[in-house]
Amino acid sequence: MPVKRLGVLTSGGDAPGMNAAIRAVVRTAVSYGMQCLGIRRGYNGLINGDIVKLETSDVSGLTGLGGTILHTARCKEFMTKAGLEKARDTCKNRGIDALVCIGGDGTFRGALDLAQYGISCCGVPGTIDNDIACSNYTIGFDTACNTAVEAIDRLNDTMQSHERCSVVEVMGHRAGHLAVYVGIACGANAILVPEKPVDLQKDIVDNIRYARDNGRTHFVVVVAEGAGGAVSLAPRIQEATGMDTRITVLGHIQRGGRPNARDRVTASRMGKYAVDVLAEGRTNRVVGIIGGNLQDYDITEALKMERGLQESMYETARVLTLR
Ligand code: F6P
Repeated sequence: MPVKRLGVLTSGGDAPGMNAAIRAVVRTAVSYGMQCLGIRRGYNGLINGDIVKLETSDVSGLTGLGGTILHTARCKEFMTKAGLEKARDTCKNRGIDALVCIGGDGTFRGALDLAQYGISCCGVPGTIDNDIACSNYTIGFDTACNTAVEAIDRLNDTMQSHERCSVVEVMGHRAGHLAVYVGIACGANAILVPEKPVDLQKDIVDNIRYARDNGRTHFVVVVAEGAGGAVSLAPRIQEATGMDTRITVLGHIQRGGRPNARDRVTASRMGKYAVDVLAEGRTNRVVGIIGGNLQDYDITEALKMERGLQESMYETARVLTLR
């Protein structure tokens, strides 16, 4: 059955580029003659009927806008049978036959649940964590990396002046992709990620001591939130090295800001592709990008895949942080 009315929602943590994806979904849907509805506040909007009509004009000027105009949320009620049934009823009452769900793993699990009730769904990976197994890239990652790098460059200046050690915590949830990229880009002296436990003495303290003995006066350590974070790590480094150490938790700064060109273009491509998939009558899919090419996967299969750290990337980080 052809899709007549398409819903689009953003769910989970926001990411720069989500608006560009919404714009692409709406414009592509219109090009197919579909009506488009924006579901507000993630799956909450489906439960409460918080839904707005989206025309082409409603999404103009969105490519460069940070955040998500539809708002986002993590919805506990949607994880219950009663919540899912309310969402299904809303889709039925509003004539929504298909949905594009933009977000991370949790968002895709929600889409899968809804697909069991006969609503065609397609997921689009949008998260700064870059931790979706079926895709080499997720919307927002590059902008978040750049935001963190700019902040750490500033920290580096003041660390140099005061001859201090900066311990910077970046986001990433349970993954270290953001930390590795940011750490390499900043020339960090140590990069800590959840996937690769390190020996504090051997991998950090000895390196700092050696570098100091050879004239280095200031240091930057990048630690992923999933690797224990900066608050617990910094005092241990200070105690072991005797260096004046400062903690910076970059936090939600990494999620905001105008998406860069890569995120705008990737979001636009993925948003269009998701609607193409649904228009072809395929359902229960997640969009991924592998080697620059768009593909789609069965949601259940996609959720079973495991996304480890890219070994060559981590090896680069490891070698370049050696004393
Ligand atoms: O998944 C994106 C993310 O920013 C993670 O990196 C982080 O752990 C989490 O969301 C923070 O969530 P919240 O905005 O609910 O604090």
